[in-house]
Amino acid sequence: MAIVHNQIHDSLSAQALAFAKANFLLLIFASVLARALYKRYASPLRHIPGPVLASCSRLWKVWSTYSGHTELDHIALHQKYGPVVRTAPNEVSFGSTNAAKDIFAVGKGFHKTMFYSVFPPKHAPDIFTEVREWKHAQMKRYAVTPYSLAQMQKRSEPIEGMIMSLMEHLTNYSINSGKVCNLGNLLHYFAFDVLGEVAFSRRFGFLEAEVDVEGSIKNIDDVQWYDGIVGQIPEFDILLRNNPLRPYLPFWKPNPTTMTRIAVEELEKRKQPDGTFDSTGIDLLAELLRAHEGNSEKFSVNDVFSIAHGAVFAGSDSTASTMQSFFYLVLNNASVYANLTEEINKAQKAGELSEIVTYAEAQRLEYFQACLKEAMRIRPAVGLGIYRNVPQEGVEIDGKFYPGGTQVAVNGWVLHRDKTVFGDDVEVYRPERWFERDAKFMGSHLYQFGGGSHLCIGRNLALFEMNKALIQILREFEITLVHPGRPLQYHSTFFVVQEGLEVYMKKRSQK
Ligand code: HEM
Repeated sequence: MAIVHNQIHDSLSAQALAFAKANFLLLIFASVLARALYKRYASPLRHIPGPVLASCSRLWKVWSTYSGHTELDHIALHQKYGPVVRTAPNEVSFGSTNAAKDIFAVGKGFHKTMFYSVFPPKHAPDIFTEVREWKHAQMKRYAVTPYSLAQMQKRSEPIEGMIMSLMEHLTNYSINSGKVCNLGNLLHYFAFDVLGEVAFSRRFGFLEAEVDVEGSIKNIDDVQWYDGIVGQIPEFDILLRNNPLRPYLPFWKPNPTTMTRIAVEELEKRKQPDGTFDSTGIDLLAELLRAHEGNSEKFSVNDVFSIAHGAVFAGSDSTASTMQSFFYLVLNNASVYANLTEEINKAQKAGELSEIVTYAEAQRLEYFQACLKEAMRIRPAVGLGIYRNVPQEGVEIDGKFYPGGTQVAVNGWVLHRDKTVFGDDVEVYRPERWFERDAKFMGSHLYQFGGGSHLCIGRNLALFEMNKALIQILREFEITLVHPGRPLQYHSTFFVVQEGLEVYMKKRSQK
């Protein structure tokens, strides 16, 4: 009996094997299809509308990020499907500011997803890349003071030194009024150099040479490009950039970016013979080192390094992009430019502006503030989504329940087009809306700096330098676009990296 049974079993196995061999491709196709259908229909998110591909696989997200314009894809998705869209088998994108308020609420348990873990350096996660919430909170606690506005004010001198240097370079262009000035590039160099001063008291030298020193900007752009795409499928990172075989493969050896090398050098420079660190000075590194002294168990030298290093990555492209958007939008709107320069000229004539505009003086220029806010509304510097995990027990977002395991995404480009908050003409750059509507209410729904416990820690620095530099430029120069109406070239890696802001500069006669 047992022999017969075994014979039947063997013959069935042989037949199955033969079938599999003959229909290999068909079987692969069937299993991929079954997996896709399972992902689409067995999920508690199955009732949420969205692209079919997105409901079956994360390929939609990868493709959209790879395209370089995921912010536009997200705007289009929300226009087509409404405020709640399924963007991956376990991910939902929210387009309403009500949902964003829930997601960013402090203490509600929305933690960063593994998307952030892909960003380098792997061995030293910083405030931005750290996905362990307790560790993030610990680091942020020590970094809040060094990043505060009061501390940025103390760094006025080096920041103003960079502003003066920017003015000199712009003046060189203005001497020959027909010379094309790539204002976008100069602002990019300026933003990097400010970070060099603030983080390490070091002049990176971008502005001085008017070049992308050692291709650092391009390099960071490439790194962020990878981060954005592979961040959508973070488990693949181990096969790619963080492949453990890389150190042994001469053609694929890891190569730290120039900025990482500089950060290592700067820390090394401050190392003393007894193994401690020289923590004197006002730069970020010095202040972080001081925070480390006496708290070395909770706030290690590794944390100090990662935070100072991370500042350059998080603060340069973001600030540059915001300033480029500001000029692009202002200069393409003749009446806005006219109103803005009138406000600045009036303040100038009334003696209300110091030789280098102070932060406090800038706050009093209401139209300028509206222009800046409106630029950050319509063209926020982060183009990708901000991703969070729903807490394990599940949670209500905008009145609906979502189970644990769901990932949520919000994109500033979508949120800032919420008509219920900003008005019907959300696509139009119109600073006047900040005077016509409830500015406080609108301001509380701006997410250009993120929100909640992960609100951008560098916003004080960004606002400080932008308020001073932008007004200084507008006050000293008349600016004309070389190609009025020509859109900026841009792509979103994590930040919106832009190119093509070319202008003619002319020195203003009256001071
Ligand atoms: C206009 C300029 C800037 C913009 C638009 C901007 C935008 C943002 C946004 C949207 C986030 C939240 C990201 C998320 O939760 O996924 C963020 C976080 C962060 N930003 Fe900025 N940023 C700017 C400037 C800076 C500067 C100058 C620095 C540093 C010097 C900086 C350092 C950081 C850090 C460390 C985080 C992580 C905060 C956390 O998770 O707690 N940023 N930024």
